Amino acid sequence: MTNPRTTSTSSTSPAAATPAAAGTSAAPATQAPSARALAALEAARRRTELLTDSVDEHDLTAQHSPLMSPLVWDLAHIGNQEEMWLVREAGGRPGLRPDLDHVYDAFRTPRADRPALPLLGPAEARAYIAAVREQTAEVLDTVDTGFEQPERLLAGAFVFGMLAQHEQQHDETMLATHQLRVGPPVLDAPEPPPAPADVALLPPEVLIPGGPFTMGTSTEPWALDNELPAHSVEVPGFWLDTVPVTNGAYAEFIAAGGYDDPAWWTPDGWRHVHEAGLVAPLFWERDGEGWNRRRFGRTEPVPADEPVLHVCWYEADAYARWAGRRLPTEAEWEKAARHDPAAGRSRRYPWGDEDPGPEHANLGQRHLRPAPAGSYPAGAAPSGARQLIGDVWEWTASDFSPYPGFAAFPYKEYSDVFFGPDYKVLRGGAFGVSPVAARGTFRNWDYPIRRQIFSGFRTARDDAGAGAASGDGRG
Ligand SMILES: [Fe+2]
Repeated sequence: MTNPRTTSTSSTSPAAATPAAAGTSAAPATQAPSARALAALEAARRRTELLTDSVDEHDLTAQHSPLMSPLVWDLAHIGNQEEMWLVREAGGRPGLRPDLDHVYDAFRTPRADRPALPLLGPAEARAYIAAVREQTAEVLDTVDTGFEQPERLLAGAFVFGMLAQHEQQHDETMLATHQLRVGPPVLDAPEPPPAPADVALLPPEVLIPGGPFTMGTSTEPWALDNELPAHSVEVPGFWLDTVPVTNGAYAEFIAAGGYDDPAWWTPDGWRHVHEAGLVAPLFWERDGEGWNRRRFGRTEPVPADEPVLHVCWYEADAYARWAGRRLPTEAEWEKAARHDPAAGRSRRYPWGDEDPGPEHANLGQRHLRPAPAGSYPAGAAPSGARQLIGDVWEWTASDFSPYPGFAAFPYKEYSDVFFGPDYKVLRGGAFGVSPVAARGTFRNWDYPIRRQIFSGFRTARDDAGAGAASGDGRG
């Protein structure tokens, strides 16, 4: 299995599909591991079916962008990885189609080349993943997934949780393919709730006081290797935007000539802006003095109060510099999202340890867009920052690197081969991210040029008074 975000990249009229039905709730961590695993796998499968049943055979087999696989590749790849890890590895069974391993190996074939592979057709792929799932259910019924189980893959049903997250991550990738697809809309969902009444009263930024905090986790049963282990990090005081940067604010950067002034861009960013011809976020198009955007087959005015989406790291970094600010580091982001100063500990989520509910965050493809900036007061962090989880992935200033004491598990290709300066870390999770993969410790990473992902950002600045607090004589 590989990180689905980074390894690559009808005649019948399908009825509009409603993602709200696609299994959006996280199974509570308090459930027995096997029950939690089954619920998570079933939720992932409902969403996979929604994303693939909502389009016709042509749309399933077509390549909608060289950045993406044909949807039918993702579909069978989900089953192939499940066969490898849950049926063969966890179950000790011979498996169903080991001959498919090389076809659906994300490392062997880049996304652009996958249409040329001898892929299973839609009907074959559906039958295959269903047959695999039958065996998975039998394995889950028979293996010991208790926390005392000495086999680490099985303890707490880790490997089942890993595969549920894998399927949900491919569902997010397939959602991005839906967004790139050209044609009439096939997905539908209710609008997110309107902004709460107190939005106008929110301070523009919140102070995160300096000091150590616990980053990463050693206790979350389904955390992936790159989130481990928990370790203490000293973070000087800083100020963080209360909410993500909005479309309205980003449009001001464009109107101020932000894309025309090298002062705001890193040298690599400036080169990329020109080579790629970037003038605005992906999917935006001019409409007189304003902007429209294309969203899952619909064209609409860009809503000013919604977090900006589909910007690359270079754009986020340039905006921050133009605004006299900077992107937060990954450690700053996690401290803002998890650290509870009153209790002196890190929470699982900004709002506490409780699994995400619809009152906390915009997750799970429950809506097909971010909620207005300032939404979800019940999901606020102790600092008052909102929407750290859900709505948009947030670019950080940091390269993807291992935590002290990192050990690859269960295989090097999940994280280890991606560490280094090529990838920037994103945090928090977007509206299309499943609650099962939206922990406060969850780390995403991608190339700084990527824009088809559901990426936004917020900005930060140093706390000018931080030096006084640490005794530089001014205080
Ligand atoms: Fe994958």
